This record gives sequence, structure tokens and C-alpha cells, in this order.
Amino acid sequence: MSSPTAFRYETLFARQSAEPRPVGQPRRGKYDFAVAYPDPASLPLDELVAGLRDALAAEGRDLAIYGHPQGYRPLREYVANKLARDRNIHVDADDIILGDGSGQPIHMVCETLVDPGDVLLTEDYIYSGTLAQMRRFRADIRGVPTDDEGMLPDALEQIIVQARSEGKPPKFLYTVPTFQNPQGWTMTLERRKALVALAQKYDMPILEDDCYVDLRFEGQDVPSLYELDGTGRVMYVASFSKIIAPGMRLGYLTAPRELLNRALAAKSGGSVNTFAAFAVHRFATSGLSSHIEVINDIQRVKRDAMLAALETHFNGDAAWSRPEGGLFIWLKLPDGADTAAVRDKILELDDVGYHAGNNFAPDMVSGKNYARLCFGYNTPEEIGEGVARLAAAFRREGLL
Ligand SMILES: Cc1ncc(COP(=O)(O)O)c(C=O)c1O
Repeated sequence: MSSPTAFRYETLFARQSAEPRPVGQPRRGKYDFAVAYPDPASLPLDELVAGLRDALAAEGRDLAIYGHPQGYRPLREYVANKLARDRNIHVDADDIILGDGSGQPIHMVCETLVDPGDVLLTEDYIYSGTLAQMRRFRADIRGVPTDDEGMLPDALEQIIVQARSEGKPPKFLYTVPTFQNPQGWTMTLERRKALVALAQKYDMPILEDDCYVDLRFEGQDVPSLYELDGTGRVMYVASFSKIIAPGMRLGYLTAPRELLNRALAAKSGGSVNTFAAFAVHRFATSGLSSHIEVINDIQRVKRDAMLAALETHFNGDAAWSRPEGGLFIWLKLPDGADTAAVRDKILELDDVGYHAGNNFAPDMVSGKNYARLCFGYNTPEEIGEGVARLAAAFRREGLL
């Protein structure tokens, strides 16, 4: 009898299964400007341990049961208070779902709303994780042109009208209005009002991703789209990843309950990690505000180090954004430069990591003459050295 052939799962993959990613941890450069990491030295490790110990002493036996499907209630209460205090968003703990970072709630919204072929709008360059989810559900993703104040309202209206004329009114619009990833700008109040007015005029919901809002080290906060709307058209996600640590995997979504209930059903049973929620809750209620002040002081120095190094090493040959917070600078090289083609080589030879601009484009092709540089992880000295190496590498490869 011949032995059975190996089974091939690829014949079974569902249409909405995700494209595979490279296996294992991606190689990181010593000068790691690729990923939006917070400053490792200031992670509040002792405080998280102390908080966890307290919570385990008080409630640890509750880990024996599956938690509330929306997540650990005291942390949802903290989030509701924080949203009221910081963003003038008034919801209660029942209006909040905790997720595995904010990535999971974004996924849940896509799963709940997107049918194949649906038009989704977003900025011309935008967080690649959300683009991946939109692609997974086979959305027709259309990027709206921006300048350094956010989306251009006239262009947005034209794109909405065009989609409607095709019989495909946009299902929703996704935006990162504050310290935008990857572009670094913050949408002005006027632009926010114009966006909300268009959402109301054309009955189009907005998914507002505010995961960087607390990382302001300069300038004034701008009201959230959620606050400006007041009609339930805005779904709001944010995260503890950038203000505590991505490894805690805790974020949250607030939206009208009909959406929340449906989104919740897309998630497997039980709450998100109650163990992590214990630590984050205790730390958040005692030390998060002062921690945010500390990390913003650190990040301001790092942003300044990167801006100064860009000025020294790219001056006249490139342009870049000057963010008032967040973790990114968006670097524009001359037209025709291809940062994607040389990325792996520069990582290998020069030990500098970055993301090429086309990673953030809905069409995956535009923006190759851009690079996103994150200043969160390295020290100011390393940032100076890494930017010098990057400029030399781009010159060697003929991009400058
Ligand atoms: C704009 C934006 N949204 C969401 C996320 C997801 O982060 P997390 O799932 O860790 O909250 C990121 C991560 O970099 C991001 O930049």
C-alpha cells in the first residue's frame, strides 16, 4: 500500500484568511527606527509588579473564572473616567470593550462592518496594521489626500461623491487624527469639524484611532472627532500600548451599543487577559498620569535629536514632518527614490531599520520615496548616529 501524501492546507484557506507574514521576529537594526516602540528604559516595571501583586492579593482567585466579555470592569471604569477627563467623551464602563491592544478592536470593527468590495476611506498614508485588516475583508480602500493639517475636505467630499455615484457609499472612514501614523501631523480643529460635517452630511461613520493622543510634548490638545460629532457616527479606539507598553496588549473601543454588541460577538469567549488588566488598572489609577509626563519629556528630547540629525545630514536633500508628539517623523526623499528597494540592504549593511512609505499606502505602491522613522526606542545619541548612517546609506544607494 502506498503511503498517504502529506496534507496541503493551502487548498482550504478561506478567502478572508490573512496573507502570511515572515515567520519569527523580524530582524531589528541597532538603530531601530522601524517600529513604534516606547522608550524601553522608562517602562514602569516595578510599578506594574506592585500593582499586580496588590490586585492578585485582592482578586486573584477570580482568575479561576472567565471574566466579563467586555473585559475587567475596574479597568473599563478607569477608561471611562480618563475619556471624560482627557477627551470630553462621556460614556460609561458598559460602553467600552477592552481588546488585545487596539489592533483587536479595529479588527472587530472591520469584521462587523466590511463586506467584500465595500469602499472604506482613509488617509493617503496610514497605519499598515489597519490596512491589512481592511484588505483581509476585501475592502476597496481609497486614500484621501492630506497636507500637514490632515485630510483635505474638498478632496474627501469628491471621493465620497464618486463612491456614491458608483452605488458604493463608503462603509466607514478610518483616521488617526492625532500624531498620525506614519505622517506625524495632527488634524486641525477646522479640518476635524469639516470631516465630521461630511460624515453627517453623507451618513458615513468614522473609526477614530487616537492611540497616540497622550504623547503630546508640545502644543495644545485638539478635541476628538467623537466629541465634535455627538450623533453616534464616531467609533473611538485607543490603547495602553504607547503609554505603558505594547507587551501588555490592552486597548479599548467605545461606540454605540448596537455596534459594540455585534463586534463583541466576533471575539472568542471570555474577556481579554485579566492578569494584564489587573496590572494596568492598578498602575493606571496610581501612576499613569505622572508616567506620561515622564515619557513625554524623554520623547521630546528624542524627537529633537532626530530633527537635529536630519537637519545636519539631510539638509537640502529631503523634507520631513515636525510632530508635536507621538513617535514618528515622515521623511520625503526626491521623487523617484525607492526606499523599499534598499530597505533590507541598509538593515544588513548599516544596521538601520525603517519602514518604506509604500507600506502605508492603500495601493501598496505609492510613497516609495518616503520613509517612516520612529524615534521612540533608541537613545538620543544612537538616534544621531543612526540618522547619519541612514543619510550616508541613501547617498551610497543613489537615493539622494
Ligand atoms: C495608529 C495605530 N493604531 C493601532 C495600533 C495597534 O497597536 P496596539 O494593538 O498595540 O494597541 C498601532 C500600532 O502601532 C498604531 O500605530
